[in-house]
Amino acid sequence: MGVDARPVLDRAMSAVGDERVQVLREYLRALVGESLGVDAKAVATGDSVMQLGLDSIKMMDLIARLTADLRFTVYPRELFDQPTIDALAHYLAQQLEQPLSADVPGGRASAEAALAKITAAVTPQRSVTVAPQHRVSNAVLLLSSPRAGSTLLRVMLAGHSRLFCPPELHLLPFSSMRERHERLGQAFLGEGLDRAIMALRGTSPDDAAQEVARMVERDVTAPEVYSLLCGLAGDRMLVDKSPSYALSMGALMRAEEYFDGPRYILLVRHPFAVVESMMRNRMEKLMGADSADPAVFGELVWAQCNDNMLKLRKRVDPERVLLLLYEDLVAEPKTVMERICSFLNIPFEEALLTPYRGARMTDGVRSHSLSVGDPNFLNHKAIEPELGAVWQEQRLQRPLGAYARRVAGELDYSLPGQDRAARTSAAALQEFEEGVL
Ligand code: A3P
Repeated sequence: MGVDARPVLDRAMSAVGDERVQVLREYLRALVGESLGVDAKAVATGDSVMQLGLDSIKMMDLIARLTADLRFTVYPRELFDQPTIDALAHYLAQQLEQPLSADVPGGRASAEAALAKITAAVTPQRSVTVAPQHRVSNAVLLLSSPRAGSTLLRVMLAGHSRLFCPPELHLLPFSSMRERHERLGQAFLGEGLDRAIMALRGTSPDDAAQEVARMVERDVTAPEVYSLLCGLAGDRMLVDKSPSYALSMGALMRAEEYFDGPRYILLVRHPFAVVESMMRNRMEKLMGADSADPAVFGELVWAQCNDNMLKLRKRVDPERVLLLLYEDLVAEPKTVMERICSFLNIPFEEALLTPYRGARMTDGVRSHSLSVGDPNFLNHKAIEPELGAVWQEQRLQRPLGAYARRVAGELDYSLPGQDRAARTSAAALQEFEEGVL
């Protein structure tokens, strides 16, 4: 029999059970061999990918190849969790077998438990009081659920001469740099701060990483870090965008303590589009909720983030809050940008409309880093208006739960195809109580 030259995904999908694992095992051996410059036969299936001598650049290349060949996003932590070729082949076969429709037993309960754990990790552990004179002024928080187009909006804003809008800082929930370091751990979320320092000081990745390490060592407080960033940004306003913030009401309310009259831009997007994107991008793997039902997890994340954002809007001076729809942003970017400029009291600038032009901190900190934020952002070349309408064609396999339906209602989003699924009021109430975290 001749060599099967079809792409690995075709070969893997037409094989079943152990045969599929075998296809993936051989594919991984060839890939790792190629990367190390040795014959695939020299790579044993029990070998640990890490111990074979793949450095971090080669690891990131391997992840990019896996993502392209298997057509789903693979995250570094998955390789760390499955260190041998054999374990990785079994794991990838399993991932191919349970595509987007995975129906995990006990779906809602396991997704809720996973989300509660993630929320706890970004919820402040102790209260912090900052004296009014030490509160940072002139700051803007850009809040959204994941996959709501926040990277696009951040990069658009980064083109304005009066705004400093770095990738995700992941700073607000923490009281100090040591706490941030310990709690972010292996989550690969820390690089946005390095990127901000690089841009502000014009230094190298190593110098920025050393400065961050020194801040951790000295346990610099979060307000001090914000104050440093704002000081270096000069007359530019700091825009802090990190989608993790909206998961926790406690984190959001910290902004009122750390900043003097902060302004909030709330970016919302239709739940069908967000849930579909979260599933397609396997966000439960990125966020460490491996065993959660992806559909239920996506829905709960969407509902919780948007619910918190709406609660925040009720708690603070409405003059300081601007609610934007992603659907409007991509359909009418100029109108939306003019609204933002008038909200922030800055003049409109054309560069806001050309997110793919000029240096806007969209690359990773190092050549082998993942870009911070939406990993697919650079796959687009311009603002794509049709993405604002994809939800109209999308149908989730299961109806949204009562919690997400209530939040969608508050945002005036219609949920086509879900009316028939409306529960009796008693069942809906019960689900609502179970769904509220
Ligand atoms: P998908 O790539 O799954 O479609 P976030 O940055 O908050 O994670 O949001 C990511 C989503 O922003 C993307 O999800 C995509 O829908 C949207 N997006 C990214 N770049 C875009 C562009 N150039 N034009 C329109 N929408 C874009």
